Amino acid sequence: MQPQMRKSVVNPFSRRQIRRQEGRQELLNHMGRVMRLSHIIAMSMGWTSEDVLLLKLAAKWHDIGKDWRPWLFYSHVPFTTPEQWAAARDHPLHGAMMLLHCPEAYGVTQKQAVPVAIEIANHHQYHQDVDESCRIMASLMNLDDQIDVTLLAHGARIIKAVDYVVARTERRHYAESLTLDDALTAMGHTVGTEFSPEVYAVLKQMRDVASEYIARAS
Ligand SMILES: [Fe+2]
Ligand SMILES: [Fe+2]
Repeated sequence: MQPQMRKSVVNPFSRRQIRRQEGRQELLNHMGRVMRLSHIIAMSMGWTSEDVLLLKLAAKWHDIGKDWRPWLFYSHVPFTTPEQWAAARDHPLHGAMMLLHCPEAYGVTQKQAVPVAIEIANHHQYHQDVDESCRIMASLMNLDDQIDVTLLAHGARIIKAVDYVVARTERRHYAESLTLDDALTAMGHTVGTEFSPEVYAVLKQMRDVASEYIARAS
């Protein structure tokens, strides 16, 4: 009798762990792209370096709320239930809570934590609602007279628009990747409701620069 070849045994648990680590690395790369493109958009809009710094921190960690449910976000398994989609929609608030809980872990000072958290919490907010949402959050923390809510709302609008073009041009398990021009065209359908007309105009003006940033691996 021929000796039996030993079947290679792959531990499905460790495979899942590896997939999650890869998924998290992809997320870090995504957040890095959003941070760098948000930075140059804000600079081109004449922001001060102090305001840009807050925006960069928020953009760098904008999706950190996905760490709340790594099995949902990093496994590349398609969402199939309304509960999964609802959980996905909560990630901005989870991210804001995580950052407020332990800002040092993200290289954010106590002073920066609230404004950065407000921008993170609103990075998927509708253009028309973001001012009110930022104002309510600042007022819940009794900080509405100490924080420039309008600036934070603009920051959240920049992250939202940049996040959209970056995400739509990346390979995702739930959607086809688009070219930058197609992503900008798709975005144009909801400018004024979802997206800020001002940020959209700057993104279109800076299309070539945006293309270069999006093409970078991380
Ligand atoms: Fe997000
Ligand atoms: Fe994102």
